[in-house]
Amino acid sequence: MRVIVTSNNEEIGEIAGGMITKVVQDKPTATLGLATGSSPEVVYASMIRAYERGEVDFSQVHTVNLDEYLGLTPDHPQSYRYFMDSHLFNHINVPKENTFVASGVGDEEECVKEFRSILNRTHVDIQLLGIGEDGHIAFNEPGQVLHNNAHVESLTESTIAANARFFANEDEVPKKAISMGMGDIMRASKIILIASGYKKADAIRGLIMDENVDVQNPSTMLKMHPDVTVIIDRPLADLVGYTD
Ligand code: GLP
Repeated sequence: MRVIVTSNNEEIGEIAGGMITKVVQDKPTATLGLATGSSPEVVYASMIRAYERGEVDFSQVHTVNLDEYLGLTPDHPQSYRYFMDSHLFNHINVPKENTFVASGVGDEEECVKEFRSILNRTHVDIQLLGIGEDGHIAFNEPGQVLHNNAHVESLTESTIAANARFFANEDEVPKKAISMGMGDIMRASKIILIASGYKKADAIRGLIMDENVDVQNPSTMLKMHPDVTVIIDRPLADLVGYTD
């Protein structure tokens, strides 16, 4: 696992965005695994700038997203489909039909079946990840067992509280989500995990300062992947005691 420490959050976006752009420059038909949350916003801004400068062409790219809230329609401002359209897809030339965000509405089993069938046919060249305060990646929450494949996940109290900032109040946060499984994430050729802010300290400490894999911090499974880059800013690195 490679760890990069940046001086600020903008630089996280530049480095992660640059790595994703490079994959597309080298392989114009690449499949990108994409993430939501506030952390990836700087990454998408950097990809949009590269596109506007004419450095990258997304016209043959496919994308698949990590997860979606159950119960939110695609036009709900807090749905992950809405987030992806407004923060990235509407600003680059990826054909909308090449982008997949799992459906959060309709029969749950059918949604999972459709997500699994897409993932069975997809190989992700580079996967972008944020991390939850409790160490979740996508919506794979800490627990006795971790899921290999796409599934429905009940969100932990910590995740509901953390994500309440995007909603009018905590009661409005969906309690369930559809998510890629850990295996789906681990099958990507390359993985980038980005984090900043003191609230991520426990999760990042477990990921980069401890050698073990712990189901109570699902991100730690990434230690078993051969090509993972963790990008954090200096204040977070200092907080967890990481020195490069
Ligand atoms: C959500 C998403 C995760 C994301 C996490 C952290 O729970 N499902 O994929 O990593 O939020 O988000 P933020 O970057 O806003 O802290």
